[in-house]
Amino acid sequence: MTAWHTPAGQLDPAKVRAAYPILATKPGGRPLHYLDSAATAQRPKPVIDAVSEFLLTGNANPHRGAYTLGSMATDAYEAARTRTATFLGVPATELVMLGSATEALNLVARSWGKGNLSRGDVVLVTEAEHHANLIPWQQVTREVDADLEFIPVDDVTGEILWDRLDGLLKLRPKIVAIGHVSNVLGSIAPLAQIAPQIHSVGGLLAVDGCQAVANMPVNILGTGADFYAFSAHKMGGLFSGGGLWARANLLEAMAPIETGGDMIREVRLRDATFAEGTQRFEAGTPDASGTVALAAACEFLDELGRQQIHDHEVRMLERVLRELPEALPDARILGPKNAKDRAGLVSFSSDLVHAHDLATILDRRGVAIRAGHHCAMPLHEQLELSATARVSVAPYTTDEDLDALFEGLRDARKIFER
Ligand code: ALA
Repeated sequence: MTAWHTPAGQLDPAKVRAAYPILATKPGGRPLHYLDSAATAQRPKPVIDAVSEFLLTGNANPHRGAYTLGSMATDAYEAARTRTATFLGVPATELVMLGSATEALNLVARSWGKGNLSRGDVVLVTEAEHHANLIPWQQVTREVDADLEFIPVDDVTGEILWDRLDGLLKLRPKIVAIGHVSNVLGSIAPLAQIAPQIHSVGGLLAVDGCQAVANMPVNILGTGADFYAFSAHKMGGLFSGGGLWARANLLEAMAPIETGGDMIREVRLRDATFAEGTQRFEAGTPDASGTVALAAACEFLDELGRQQIHDHEVRMLERVLRELPEALPDARILGPKNAKDRAGLVSFSSDLVHAHDLATILDRRGVAIRAGHHCAMPLHEQLELSATARVSVAPYTTDEDLDALFEGLRDARKIFER
């Protein structure tokens, strides 16, 4: 255990909080109760220091400079890839560093998808997907005249009806693309259970891991996934950065969708050959500072311990699930009833207070939550909701943050019950 834990080995959120300089600031003159980590996590001091150190002493364009500083930048970038791969439990040779998870999911759809899908083939996603794991599949299936099919959600709770998967697998989907943790429902997809079912009909499993990797232990190879996308800024890294893990045999057979510098072997005026491995998919100047920051974020999350992070977040979510109906009795809570079946977040709606009004009222107490469709409009449409309010927690979330949330919810109720 470290400085971040109690003697009993639990995360001590007050100590963790001190590592995040922004949490001591007072936007608008109010103490900050940041409950929007699912949109973007705050950055701890070690991440800020690592970027600063790189920019102050190590900045050069990786893979190019024949001088000492250039080699240092190359080493820093590749060491950061390796550190991130260790964190994710995958070989560094299979980890493509990209600008975002959105880029990663587009790479799967546009490269693997275009190379492998044709007329009449089936792609399966859930009705709860984030737009980044839906629109790329809409585009590619339209282009090649393949079919896009859906694992449905429960019309009331929004929970994904995994028991329908068996029936849908009779369509023999070539790929099933799903979120590991839903960014609206907070539910955890049973990957280890469904991966063998999908593989048994010859399909691949592509996973959007954005809401999972920073909130619970994730061993990507153990999930049974064939592709796994993640985003740096939800892990405490910078806004730029994220990546795609894919099995080596899949990467080898995929064509690059972005071309340019750094991804080539040889270029002539009328044609070019491409680099091997991950480099083929990393066109242009690599995001060295973003990748260095990501590695520092992985280091910090490992120091906190992802099991400890998950346990702490479950404790916070238990409180939200228990006290939300007391503070706002008409709240319709989406997703699993049990906090243990969630990672990081709870979304809800109320007929009394619109989500956007709620977010504005909470802001008066410095409580930051997200309101809207959370980039999952089809799910909201299924649930006949235009917007939901979402509370998301992190290792730095304290009971004081939740006290402020419930106070704010009571304020809102008083205003709208008048
Ligand atoms: N995808 C991010 C969210 O769910 C922005 O809030």
